[in-house]
Amino acid sequence: MFKQIFALIPIIAAVLANEKTILLSNDDGWAALNIRAAYRELTNAGYNVILSAPARQRSGWSGKFQIPDSKTLKEAGEFNYPPKGSPSWGHESDNNKIWYFDGTPGAAVAFGLEYVIPNYFNDTKVDLVVNGPNEGTNLGNGMYTISGTIGATYNAVYRNYPGIAISGSNGNNSFFKDFENDENDTLLAANIYAKKVVQFVDQLFKGAKDDSILPITTGLNINFPSVGYDDESCKDPEWVFTKFSGKDSTTSDLKYNKESGLFESSSIGSEALYTCVFGNCSLEGESQLLADKNCKTSVSAFSVDYSASKDQEETIHGALNGLF
Ligand SMILES: *[C@@H]1O[C@H](CO)[C@@H](O)[C@H](O)[C@H]1NC(C)=O
Ligand SMILES: *[C@@H]1O[C@H](CO)[C@@H](O)[C@H](O)[C@H]1NC(C)=O
Ligand SMILES: *[C@@H]1O[C@H](CO)[C@@H](O)[C@H](O)[C@H]1NC(C)=O
Ligand SMILES: *[C@@H]1O[C@H](CO)[C@@H](O)[C@H](O)[C@H]1NC(C)=O
Repeated sequence: MFKQIFALIPIIAAVLANEKTILLSNDDGWAALNIRAAYRELTNAGYNVILSAPARQRSGWSGKFQIPDSKTLKEAGEFNYPPKGSPSWGHESDNNKIWYFDGTPGAAVAFGLEYVIPNYFNDTKVDLVVNGPNEGTNLGNGMYTISGTIGATYNAVYRNYPGIAISGSNGNNSFFKDFENDENDTLLAANIYAKKVVQFVDQLFKGAKDDSILPITTGLNINFPSVGYDDESCKDPEWVFTKFSGKDSTTSDLKYNKESGLFESSSIGSEALYTCVFGNCSLEGESQLLADKNCKTSVSAFSVDYSASKDQEETIHGALNGLF
């Protein structure tokens, strides 16, 4: 009897040691369908997932760090979930692993790391921060600075955590409660993406050379193509390594409309967005890959060491030499 129990101890210890903790966030809010599907599938796959995401839709809030200035919500959460006047942060009544926070995406990540995990999960070590899948793509270096999904991700990378930003081509702002009976619908994009997220995360942990998973300063930006009901020819998109820069990379622009007397938003490409300086410049740009609509998912690596290259630095320093 004792022998059998002792024989189990190393197995139990190994299972516990292998359980990886993932902090999951996004910018569309904690009630978005995509993030709830990812929570479900990652949890079903055996990960210890703690969701900490904004109370409201925070698309386009980039890396801005904003925290609540009141203990109660001055505005309702997205889909009135939770309603105005509720606490500014809280969790699902039946699950203390699913949290909202009335802040920006970057702040919701910090809230998970600095408040939820120390206070509710005994300072469990977070192995990976996953953000998304976003409702809509986040492509190119122009979007890097605008996207709340990527903003949440580089906020995690700044704090030494490996971070991945994931975006889907399904742009609808969907409330998870409207799809509660669809968790087994294999053509629902949120479900396909969630399963692909598990496949990706599994390999990331399996392939990691050490505990750090991704090299310090780096993160990943992933964009899924249209799948399932949105493109029935695409149910299991292929992974492709890409880069941020390159053809079709754009950033925000404006145009003056003489008739309305107002400005309209538009987008613009430029040599600065097409030019590759760092990394493997033979890789295709992520914007181009997704524009080709070939059922492929882009995977681009980025670094938060924003310094110019050595050559660029030398050119600049040379020009300024007279001052030094
Ligand atoms: C919390 O973590 C510490 C250090 O790892 C451990 O000694 C302690 O038993 C844990 N407490 C609980 C309640 O899990
Ligand atoms: C978009 O989301 C809303 C809110 O959940 C939902 O009522 C609607 O059916 C969704 N539309 C599509 C096309 O998924
Ligand atoms: C989905 O499938 C699982 C496993 O078969 C089942 O437990 C669950 O009830 C199903 N969900 C729905 C909404 O039908
Ligand atoms: C650079 O990317 C190209 C295109 O994907 C690939 O064929 C090549 O092997 C890569 N080179 C290196 C050194 O990784």
